[in-house]
Amino acid sequence: MFVLAHLSDPHLAPLPAASWGELVGKRLTGYVNWRRKRRFVHDPGTLAAIVADLKRQAPAHIAVTGDIANIALAAEFPLGRDWLARLGSARDITFVPGNHDIYVREAIKFAGRQWGAYMSDDDGLGGFPFVRHRGNVALIGLSTGVPTAPLLATGWLGANQLAEFAAVLNKLKSEDAFRVVLIHHPPVTAAPRHKRLLDAPVFKRVIAAHGAELLLHGHDHVHMINWLDGPNGTRVPAVGVPSASARHGTDKDSAAYNLYQIDGANGAWRCELISRGLDSSGAVVQQKRFMLVG
Ligand SMILES: [Fe+2]
Ligand SMILES: [Fe+2]
Repeated sequence: MFVLAHLSDPHLAPLPAASWGELVGKRLTGYVNWRRKRRFVHDPGTLAAIVADLKRQAPAHIAVTGDIANIALAAEFPLGRDWLARLGSARDITFVPGNHDIYVREAIKFAGRQWGAYMSDDDGLGGFPFVRHRGNVALIGLSTGVPTAPLLATGWLGANQLAEFAAVLNKLKSEDAFRVVLIHHPPVTAAPRHKRLLDAPVFKRVIAAHGAELLLHGHDHVHMINWLDGPNGTRVPAVGVPSASARHGTDKDSAAYNLYQIDGANGAWRCELISRGLDSSGAVVQQKRFMLVG
């Protein structure tokens, strides 16, 4: 059995000091939003409790689906690298970026430099999609992070990435791998259009044609399960987790993470989902447990 943990959207706090030169355009609106609202949601103590509980479960691998940063200040990237390093080695953790990581154009190079080891393939090469094999599990990392105008939180995969993604799914299917797709934005959501993955319809057509066994996402900061159409009448679970640093009592779900116990073989996979999160007393407890696949 392979145990995969999934956490997302840590939005590391506190925000490091920004230079005046950095606080222009989109970063300025993001900074105001952080000061007014988000800093009261994302709590370092909550994140530490979630990570400590996750480590006690000793998963074989941890998937982190984006939004380590908040407004992609240069100083947020080394802080993110240190947080990832405390979570585990780049061999044991796979990261895909979110819209808050690629908030502005220059963030692409910061993320590659500081976090590249966590978003590279089996040979250590970067670029999206990338694939990592861990036993009979294959992790496929996608990037929906593109710099956007102020007040937009949209995502975009693009035709090139989607074409490669289709080829990767096909190849991994022939290898009988349990394919886990890691993506920041959910392919199905009730969120308003300015927060959505804009090419989700194309993405869903790729999944419908080539299938996948499991899709993990963040971004909406709530527990979500949606079933996507796969080939030949199959269905693919798309599962989202709340922000791993969300205090109890805010307008989104409290901090949580999911564990996936993956077992079986192609044609007869089993995957049990165990959700653990913060309760009203501040303790991290099991909230749900059910068979997702099989
Ligand atoms: Fe987020
Ligand atoms: Fe996001």
